[in-house]
Amino acid sequence: MCGLSLVVPPSSVLADETVSEYDIAIDLATMLQSARSIIGGNQDLINDPTLGDKGLSAAVVRERALEKFSAAKGGAMPDLSGDSLKSRLLKAQVDAISKVMTEHQETINQPGIAFKGFVPAVFARLVNEEFKRTMGEEAEVKVTAPPELIRNRKARPDEWEVEAIRNKLSAPDWEKGAIFSAEATGNGRPAFRVLVPEYYSQGCLACHGSPKGELDITGYPKEGGNLGDLGGVISVTLFRK
Ligand code: HEC
Repeated sequence: MCGLSLVVPPSSVLADETVSEYDIAIDLATMLQSARSIIGGNQDLINDPTLGDKGLSAAVVRERALEKFSAAKGGAMPDLSGDSLKSRLLKAQVDAISKVMTEHQETINQPGIAFKGFVPAVFARLVNEEFKRTMGEEAEVKVTAPPELIRNRKARPDEWEVEAIRNKLSAPDWEKGAIFSAEATGNGRPAFRVLVPEYYSQGCLACHGSPKGELDITGYPKEGGNLGDLGGVISVTLFRK
C-alpha cells in the first residue's frame, strides 16, 4: 500500500448537505490511507528479525498518521474533540488506529521472526472492523475489491459495491482516480456512499501480480494483476438517520 497517493477531493458543485457528507467520507478515506501508509513505509522495519522494539507504538503511529493526513489536507489538523459528526467519526477512527497498534505491539516487536503477517491491508481491515464496532450505526469504512480479486471473505463487496465497481469505476471511460458517490442503501438503510478507487502500483505486484496463482509472502495466491489495474476501493458509507 506504500505506493498510493492520497485522495485529493475534487472541487465539486453539489448541494451543501451533500458536500459536507462527501467531505466527511473523503476525510475518513484519507485518514485510513494516511495510517496505512505509515505501516507500508515501515514494512521493512516491521519485518526485521534482528530487532525487538520497532518504535511503532500506538502514540507514534497516531501522530504520524495525523501529520500525513494534515499534509494531505493542506496543513490543517483535524478537529477530534468537537461534537459534529465529522469530528466524532474521525476521532473514533483515530482511536481505532491506536487500538489496533496497541493490540499488535507484541506481534510487531517479536524478535527472531521476519514476516509477521502485519501488512497494510491487514492493519486497515482491523482498523475498519474496530471502527464499525464503535460507529457502525452511523458509518462504515471498508476496503473491498472487484469480486474476482477478493482475498479475505470479510472484505467482500456488497451488491451496490459490485455494481458500482463494474459499471462505474471499471468502465472504459471512467476517469482514472475519479471518485464515485451516490445516494444508495447500505445494510438496507438509506445512506450516502462513496468509493475511492485504488490502483496497483509496483509495490503491490509483489503480492497481487504475476505469476497468477503463485503464493505471495502472505500465503495468498497472486491475482496476476498489472501495474495501474484497479486493485480495490475504499468504500465509505454514511447512514442516514
Ligand atoms: C505483502 C503483500 C501485499 C502487498 C505488497 C499488497 N497487498 Fe493487498 N492484500 C494483501 C493481503 C494479505 C490481503 C488480505 C488482508 C486481509 O486479511 O484482510 C490484501 C488485501 C487487499 C485488498 C482488500 C480486499 C481483499 O482482497 O481482501 C485490496 C483492495 C488490496 N489488498 C490492494 C492492494 C494494493 C492497491 C496494494 C499496493 C498499494 C497492495 N494491496 C499491496 C497482501 C498485500
